[in-house]
Amino acid sequence: MKKLIIANFKMNKTSQETRVYLNELLPLIDNADKDVAICVPFTSIAMGKKCLKETPILLGAQNVSSEESGAFTGEVSARMLKEAGCKVVLVGHSERRKNFKETDQQINLKIKQLLNNNLSPILCIGETKLQRDTDRTVEVIKKQIETCLSGLYENELKNMVIAYEPIWAIGTGKIATKKQISDAIKLIRKEISNYFSEKVSKEIRVVYGGSIKPENARELLSIKGLDGLLVGGASLGAKTFSQIVNA
Ligand code: PGA
Repeated sequence: MKKLIIANFKMNKTSQETRVYLNELLPLIDNADKDVAICVPFTSIAMGKKCLKETPILLGAQNVSSEESGAFTGEVSARMLKEAGCKVVLVGHSERRKNFKETDQQINLKIKQLLNNNLSPILCIGETKLQRDTDRTVEVIKKQIETCLSGLYENELKNMVIAYEPIWAIGTGKIATKKQISDAIKLIRKEISNYFSEKVSKEIRVVYGGSIKPENARELLSIKGLDGLLVGGASLGAKTFSQIVNA
């Protein structure tokens, strides 16, 4: 399977800025041997759809409601994202967990909404600095996998991506070591194998995110069992992101 490189714009770029970016990016990654997904703000989805039509690039959102429809002012449903042209959606990003108090239970409901609408969830998990320093990383990852994936069917899992994003590595310039990433991937696959099957634990894509730059992308992509990268800050420049895609 091809490696997957995901851009997460976070709360950056208007619709017009997204257009300028994509027009610059597309020729730069024309010959890439990787799958690419671009997760834009809600207001850039329509522009993303226009610019990415007839390209293999997957359009993505960064959040979704845990509810199907109804009196939830300000929320956006999975069905709306599907109709708008999204293929993938980030869920459980640490910034949402921290700033908006999202829980693993809510994230589980969001994943179910996405799967019911044939959208691929990109589930973000990972430990804080304190949790790592106090040897709780394994426990934290196990709990996140257990709760976020609870009640899913094995055949739904192969449409998912799991992003291991240690929180202390996000936007800090501190990158996890190859050993730390490798240990986390093994743990994630082992837990999935325990709850579902060994087959799907091998099929599901597991990617890493946290302070990725063109300079470290190639080295990270050589980690055994790692299927790709989730890029925040370094995805905001088309040229920089293309260097990561072409690494
Ligand atoms: P970063 O962000 O690449 O800026 O560290 C990654 C992320 O938040 O997904």
